[in-house]
Amino acid sequence: CGITACIGTADSVDPLMSGLRRLEYRGYDSAGIAVNGPNGLSLTKRVGEVSELATAVEQNPLDGTFGIGHTRWATHGGVTNENAHPHTDEAGRIAVVHNGIIGNFQSLRTELEADGHVFASETDTEVVPHLIEANLRDGATPEEAFRAAVGRLSGTYALAAIIGDEEVIYATRSGSPLVLGVGDGEFFLASDVPAFIPYTDRVVYLHDGDYVVTTREGYTITDAAGRPVERSVETVDWDPETATKGGYEHFMYKEIHEQPGALRRTIHGRLNPLNGGVELEAFPPGTFADVEQIHLVAMGTSHHAGMYAASLMAARGIPAFPFMAGEYAVTVPPVTPGTLVVAVSQSGETADTLDAVRRARAAGARTLAVTNVVGSSITRECDAELLIRAGPEIGVAATKTFSSQVTALTLLTERLAEDVTGSKSGDAHDIVDALSRLPGDVQEVLDTATASAIAAEYQDSDAYFFIGRGIAHPVALEGALKFKEISYEHAEGFAASELKHGPLALVTPLTPVFAIFTGEEDEATLSNVKEVQARGAPVVAITGDTDGEISEFADHVLAIPETHPDVAGVLANVQLQLVAYHAAKLLDRPIDKPRNLAKCVTVE
Ligand code: G6P
Repeated sequence: CGITACIGTADSVDPLMSGLRRLEYRGYDSAGIAVNGPNGLSLTKRVGEVSELATAVEQNPLDGTFGIGHTRWATHGGVTNENAHPHTDEAGRIAVVHNGIIGNFQSLRTELEADGHVFASETDTEVVPHLIEANLRDGATPEEAFRAAVGRLSGTYALAAIIGDEEVIYATRSGSPLVLGVGDGEFFLASDVPAFIPYTDRVVYLHDGDYVVTTREGYTITDAAGRPVERSVETVDWDPETATKGGYEHFMYKEIHEQPGALRRTIHGRLNPLNGGVELEAFPPGTFADVEQIHLVAMGTSHHAGMYAASLMAARGIPAFPFMAGEYAVTVPPVTPGTLVVAVSQSGETADTLDAVRRARAAGARTLAVTNVVGSSITRECDAELLIRAGPEIGVAATKTFSSQVTALTLLTERLAEDVTGSKSGDAHDIVDALSRLPGDVQEVLDTATASAIAAEYQDSDAYFFIGRGIAHPVALEGALKFKEISYEHAEGFAASELKHGPLALVTPLTPVFAIFTGEEDEATLSNVKEVQARGAPVVAITGDTDGEISEFADHVLAIPETHPDVAGVLANVQLQLVAYHAAKLLDRPIDKPRNLAKCVTVE
């Protein structure tokens, strides 16, 4: 879910609505705003995308100088108007928006109902305005009432509240993201910076346990005991345009095309072509000298980047194991003092990944976050951070962040290899060279793309399979994930070696197989291609070998520039992003907002 709030602007409706549009990637099954002004508190909520709410607000304009807004990804309670946020007390004088899950809401609700409170929704959130109301009735000031209500909650939350006619916004966070935007006489709160970037580029990254009280004159930040805490104001260098579609039909397509720039930022200042070295400012040589093994924990696309990196590390003699963070958190594998846990998360807020990090730390591991978001929760939970610098990604389907994650992890791998094994990897020079050419190579893929014709040719298929070996295996999984996420068609990725142990039973002339070749183990994958062809399946090869045996056997080729095998997977993935995009476009799917999914999943 995404929350937003603003105060101090003459009209709070526009900034709130603009914020919700920019946060819609966080959830879009219903949305609402509550504003307060000359006519008191007014509230509008609608099932559906933010555009539905916008239409409602146009038809019945609201008037307010401060307010809160929310775009929802349902967790507790179905998608209904009643369950949409903001939630209020019975009198409709206290309004609250929430991101996260209140674990003890059922017992709080039972207690409040026993005291005569009547609830209007099935959500966990609604206990909050009722608790505030009860505290006010007991004589608390609004701030005391807010703090005492929050003090009763367990679980995860970012909350913003307006209480009565007092021109104040109260907010706090614990386990869910919340940032404060500092303008000139106007202040914003939101789940993520893009929400207010058209209004201000000055940001305070709030920490768990921070309470913010904001008026039009300024803000205070305190801890749970009310003691002031110092938080610096940082300036972000985002062009407001980076969070808009800028002429592209979809954010996803724009972000696919932003990859050369994103990769340039990922590698900027980190490669030394002269000595084949990788220079990571925060990790000088020797940083990882005592590392014995690596656990990579992540979810979704980030997990595929973690799998990719684990292959690279293992090939350099570093014991490295990828884990789905949600599973890792359930059963933490043995952690030794020499274990480095690398948590990969674009948003830095994924609940499963944060949980894995906490458990790894509790077991004594050293932790490192690889993330795109400065100041995100994961950077605070981990001992160190490596930023991937991809720039904001709005499309729910991760594209440029995967490329930047893999690239940043490749840099990390080289750094680790030097520290752990005592010398640079054998082909460090070639890898550094391939990485420096990568942005240009990705541009070449984009400029010569033929993926739309492939998508059109196979659009009536029963299912889509993706196979690869080594680093091409996570690329196959990622290709399939992208395809299913946005097209809603059945798509599966397999290790090429796995094919004949089961999945081959699914292969027919109506199941095109996308085979990924990186220049390593190509011969074995080619045998698998022949096996599926013998069952009548068409084969699309993604390869840099455009005039050899692979092209001879494949029905179609999606070409990638020739490069180092370790880097080829990034290029192959760009081709698969384009195939998925065009397939979904032909089916007229809502590409940036696939059903049931959200970009940032802050619940377990
Ligand atoms: C969600 C998103 C995916 C993302 C995953 C992990 O499932 O839809 O695109 O890969 O979360 O997110 P993270 O922010 O931790 O990389």
